Amino acid sequence: MTTTIEVSGGNFRPYEVIVGRGLLAQLGPRVAALARGRTVVITDETVATLHGPAVLASLAAAGVKARLLTVPPGEGSKSFAELERLIDRMLAIGLDRKDVIVALGGGVVGDLAGLAAALYMRGIDFVQVPTTLLAQVDSSVGGKTAIDTPRGKNLVGAFHQPRLVLADIDVLATLPERQLRSGWAEVLKHGMICDVAFFDWLAGEGAVGSKGEPEALHRAVVRSVEIKSAIVGEDEKEAGRRALLNLGHTFGHAIEAELGFDEDVLTHGEAVALGCAMAFRFSAVRGLCAAADSERVEAVIADAGLPTRLEHAGAFSADRLRARMASDKKAEGGRLTLILARAIGDACVDKAVDRAAVHEFLKTEGAA
Ligand code: GLY
Repeated sequence: MTTTIEVSGGNFRPYEVIVGRGLLAQLGPRVAALARGRTVVITDETVATLHGPAVLASLAAAGVKARLLTVPPGEGSKSFAELERLIDRMLAIGLDRKDVIVALGGGVVGDLAGLAAALYMRGIDFVQVPTTLLAQVDSSVGGKTAIDTPRGKNLVGAFHQPRLVLADIDVLATLPERQLRSGWAEVLKHGMICDVAFFDWLAGEGAVGSKGEPEALHRAVVRSVEIKSAIVGEDEKEAGRRALLNLGHTFGHAIEAELGFDEDVLTHGEAVALGCAMAFRFSAVRGLCAAADSERVEAVIADAGLPTRLEHAGAFSADRLRARMASDKKAEGGRLTLILARAIGDACVDKAVDRAAVHEFLKTEGAA
């Protein structure tokens, strides 16, 4: 089964996100329909070993000449150095603006290749082929591309929407369990933001998706993409409603930063899960949502094998965490902006959160 979701908004060319099984084998004809007979596939060394041969075979069979450009796996590749190296190789190959590049990989590859596509000759088209659950449900859709600098993550980037996204459920079978669970955190997040019926399904029958069951994964990816694309269609540049997609990210990002973004200790998805649990607890403390909703969110996150409480909380300083939250790029005009919730499925943006209340809350979470 294949499901197609159209992403459209006022300010960008509409594109399709195709979700299904066996889609890597269809990449060739789909790229052939967009490109002029050649492409560059940007990927990392791990994904190149797993899926490079299938992708190159599919492109060759469709008459598309392809070069594979690989970067080292990991967040370290979202750098100016790697971006420069990629663009230099694309120039050496002689790509021009009528060519199309393919981003084959997780969030790091998608963000880096997407930014290279945004900048190359003032912008060329690219196709996203996300190979992690996190990338399929979040980073490959919506056009955010970026690299990191030593001063912070995702601080240099562009909005550049892909021409097409191919989310092949089969490739998720090769993901380590921890990575699959991490992507599941973003799936749960979409339910928490605006679809309680989806959240109910994820908590019940659909929970097998977090263990890799392909039909549940298909439905989870499709609904996540529908939710994300509807929000992006309304607010591409995050002037308003798109900020809802950052539920759990401000708490989560502060904790990740304090841990030096060490994915061995806490993955991004785990940080988002923990951040969502904290955002709901904070909402409950403020009387915005019922304690029962916050407790349910916590239970469902824990059932998926994701963290809900700060481990070794006493090792974190409430002052430092709050300062990190205030310097997050979602902070506006010195006030703290947080995505909170009135209920499961009813998240809201609060742009004027009292810093002292956050500090007090972090103390009750165990921070020193
Ligand atoms: N990951 C949040 C967004 O794309 O807006």
